[in-house]
Amino acid sequence: MITWGLVAVLVATALLYSRWRHSYWSSRGVPTAPGSIPFFGHTFKLLSRSKYRWLIVDEIYHKHRGSLFCGLYEVFQPVLLIGDPGLLKAVLIKDFDHFTNRRSFKSSNPKDKIINEMLNATTGEHWKGIRSVLSTSFTSGRMKGMFPLIETKAQGLVDYLYGQLKKDPVVRMKHSFGMYTMEVISSCAFGLETNSFEGDDSIFAKKAMELFTIKPLRLVKFLCFSIFPKLANLLNFQLTHENMDFFIDVVVETLRQRKAGVKRGDFLDIMLEAREDQDQSTDKKKPKYPLSDDTIIASAVLFIIAGYDTTSNTLGIASFLLAKHTKEQELLREELRKLIAEHGSLTYQAIMEAKYLDGCVSETLRIYPPVVVNARCCTMDYNLPGTDLLIRKGQMISIPVWSLHHDQKYWPEPEKFDPTRFFPENKDRIVSGTYLPFGLGPRNCIAMRFALMEAKLALARTVLEFELRCAPGHEELELSLTPGVMRPKEDVFVTLTPIANE
Ligand code: HEM
Repeated sequence: MITWGLVAVLVATALLYSRWRHSYWSSRGVPTAPGSIPFFGHTFKLLSRSKYRWLIVDEIYHKHRGSLFCGLYEVFQPVLLIGDPGLLKAVLIKDFDHFTNRRSFKSSNPKDKIINEMLNATTGEHWKGIRSVLSTSFTSGRMKGMFPLIETKAQGLVDYLYGQLKKDPVVRMKHSFGMYTMEVISSCAFGLETNSFEGDDSIFAKKAMELFTIKPLRLVKFLCFSIFPKLANLLNFQLTHENMDFFIDVVVETLRQRKAGVKRGDFLDIMLEAREDQDQSTDKKKPKYPLSDDTIIASAVLFIIAGYDTTSNTLGIASFLLAKHTKEQELLREELRKLIAEHGSLTYQAIMEAKYLDGCVSETLRIYPPVVVNARCCTMDYNLPGTDLLIRKGQMISIPVWSLHHDQKYWPEPEKFDPTRFFPENKDRIVSGTYLPFGLGPRNCIAMRFALMEAKLALARTVLEFELRCAPGHEELELSLTPGVMRPKEDVFVTLTPIANE
């Protein structure tokens, strides 16, 4: 009797505690998103596999759009979802010094020393220092210099697609573009030829793909790091996926060769040069931040991880959209042919000038942004402009990227694939802060220019060589329900027909 009574008191106390923790937002006059459950808050709702995550966030976004923002709970942690582009610009750009960090998982497991050094995970001044040095790898001069290398990979892609057609007119586009992006990134990041196109079992693409398959136990570990970091470290949880060791080993070996004097002009060389420059330079304008070997290794591996899946999914989906929208496909082909006539070939300059191509890639990223919800961590107490809401140091901000991209207030007929939205003459109609496929502000995607150049070249070469049509039974795109970046469920199946190019 006494035992049951005690249990009842304990349960009631725990529930009251949970209710008190979950009254954080309401006590500050902030509407709370629906769907919070005792103890877990919105965590399960957001991780539910019964519905696309971005649609769950979208429901919340639309319910509270009138109030510009609303509150969520990750277990007991309050998270503020901001849907107003003006407030987002304040957080991401104007008052960036209050939001320099993203969600980061600091692991004390010695096996995680490389992952802790990755730019996306670093914080504060350390992030700033590394970012300033790494940014020198992505200037337009560097991009132009890397173009010929990427051109050879795009030719490899075209040859590979012709090879596939000998077996079947229906081609797995995400898989094919995956090989291309792996070739490009491993070659540009650390001068490695992965020979992905030579066999369907490229060890690199396979290892990379497995990195993105988030198994339930891994998800639990991530959640634990995010919500109870001290507990995760106490239990000595490891963040590094076993396949990451494969990439780390490859970079370590390449770094060893570079120190012996081999040069390739890739990101690894650029980082090593930057380090040498810093050691010798007295120029105050040059970014000065000592890159350790671990940081250099971490950055090269991160470029593969951050660049592989995002870019190949975007390309796969772009090929699907063009297969579905044949008129737009033809307009793109016409533009490219005109540019080739003008420039002699598909040069770097031609790719930069191709506005319909830019529209196709940008529109793909609007409708299907790989990062559907982004985040920032508050690093200094902050008064949200125009409100009396104080965001506390350590609190998370959630950014509903997909919802902003699909809000008809900003994008008329948001589901329509319309590359002309991004024409220079139409760009002033885009409300700033509503298009965020690469994030915004000083912590945006460091490789945006590189990713766009790589994607545009591959898409242009594919459309010039082949007619694209949706494969029978694949007229609609199915997306994966697993957490992580937005990606096709299985693959993207497109029927290719070679075009006779004289
Ligand atoms: C279509 C392709 C890509 C998309 C859509 C994309 C998108 C993003 C987004 C949304 C972020 C977070 C930005 C923010 O929080 O404001 C990010 C960060 C990052 N991306 Fe990309 N990305 C792409 C390709 C690449 C490639 C090819 C690389 C490497 C070569 C790369 C490297 C990175 C890195 C290192 C960061 C972390 C930056 C930092 O924390 O300072 N991304 N990317």
